[in-house]
Amino acid sequence: MNRVVVGAQWGDEGKAKITDLLAQDADLIIRYQGGCNAGHTVVAHGKTFKFHLIPSGILYKGKTCLIGNGTVILPESFQTEIEGLKAENIDLSGLKVSPLAAITMPWHTEVDGYSESNAGKGKIGTTKKGIGPTYTDKMQRIGLRIEDLYSKETLSEKLDVILPIKNKQLKEVYNLKTYTKDEVLALCEKYAEIFRPYVCFDWQNLLRDAKREGKKILFEGAQGVMLDVDFGTYPFVTSSNPVGGGAGIGSGYGPTVIDEVIGVAKAYCTRVGEGPFVSELTDAVGKSIQDIGHEFGVTTGRPRRCGWFDAVTMKYACLVGGLTSIALTKIDVFDTFDEIKVCTAYKDTRNGETYTSYPTDVYTHKYLEPVYETHKGWGEDITAVRKYEDLPENCRKYLERLEQILETPISIVSVGPDREQTIFKV
Ligand code: IMP
Repeated sequence: MNRVVVGAQWGDEGKAKITDLLAQDADLIIRYQGGCNAGHTVVAHGKTFKFHLIPSGILYKGKTCLIGNGTVILPESFQTEIEGLKAENIDLSGLKVSPLAAITMPWHTEVDGYSESNAGKGKIGTTKKGIGPTYTDKMQRIGLRIEDLYSKETLSEKLDVILPIKNKQLKEVYNLKTYTKDEVLALCEKYAEIFRPYVCFDWQNLLRDAKREGKKILFEGAQGVMLDVDFGTYPFVTSSNPVGGGAGIGSGYGPTVIDEVIGVAKAYCTRVGEGPFVSELTDAVGKSIQDIGHEFGVTTGRPRRCGWFDAVTMKYACLVGGLTSIALTKIDVFDTFDEIKVCTAYKDTRNGETYTSYPTDVYTHKYLEPVYETHKGWGEDITAVRKYEDLPENCRKYLERLEQILETPISIVSVGPDREQTIFKV
């Protein structure tokens, strides 16, 4: 069974735990998009590990973990992650990096920082890791890839094309520092050493062999469907395709090897950074969710905005994300809640119309109000429950109602951060 794990909301859905659980069963784990903007916390060997780019499956012995062609890599961040894992004696022999992955150069992080500071109302609230500018240059075909670091001739030829354009932009558009060719060549030499032990030049055979031998492949997504550059709350999105379809492109496999797409969603919604969020709660209820759910970012430490479960965006995520089932996390956060709401529609305050399909023009979201359906809480601690039928009746009713609205089954229910606190609902 080859599976994709994808965030189904705005990221931070608890993918790390689900990915970690499913990685036990996988042979090859491929991270297919994004970069070190992601943050995954995994508790293993009695220690807490914070991952940004390297698949957490590396903590299991004997797995191959590939950072795919669809990713963007900030070399310094990659190096820090590697050093952290080495310090904990984690075996990195299975770690591989696609030679086609894009490199985040210093000008990318500088432009990201500049754009965010000067964007005014257009501020996206990025992680300032250079993600957008790196993907921009990849698409403009003036980006560097990992493989370029190992061919002096290619690098030199490419830089002759890239640097005049880049320097003109840096100077005239952003008023930022420009780069000489020698400076960049020296930097690239350093980067080549960072990546050398991990670059998988033979990635084609790695993928072919895994397919032929029936190895189990886990495609690890980052961020979430509502941050997808095509389908998310554009322009308040990241610059890649977290959706299930992104796994085919960002791994080198195409869509045909994928059997399942599991969308991870919290029993409520959170969002970091700017952008619309119709079911956001700015009151004491939102604060309780934030406190009980420990909703603070791993990468930036920012408090996450919290709100009720938004079934309108989730139904949309089931469609565009290609989800075959849902892993619902953090439902135990509601253990002490008397009532739990689900946003089932949006009401347009301009004309009184209600929408159950997601309106894609986010500039109109300021006119939308959530329409809620209220469910009774269960008022008991469910963190020790391990079987679906042992969940309180109100909790099961809530889950079954979600399945009905979303027309997608919930396959996994997470009732706490530990691996054991997981209910597999068949
Ligand atoms: P960027 O990916 O750094 O360009 O940021 C674009 C948007 O995506 C911002 O709103 C970020 O807060 C959000 N974002 C990026 N990565 C993550 C993540 O891993 N979890 C949650 N939000 C993220």
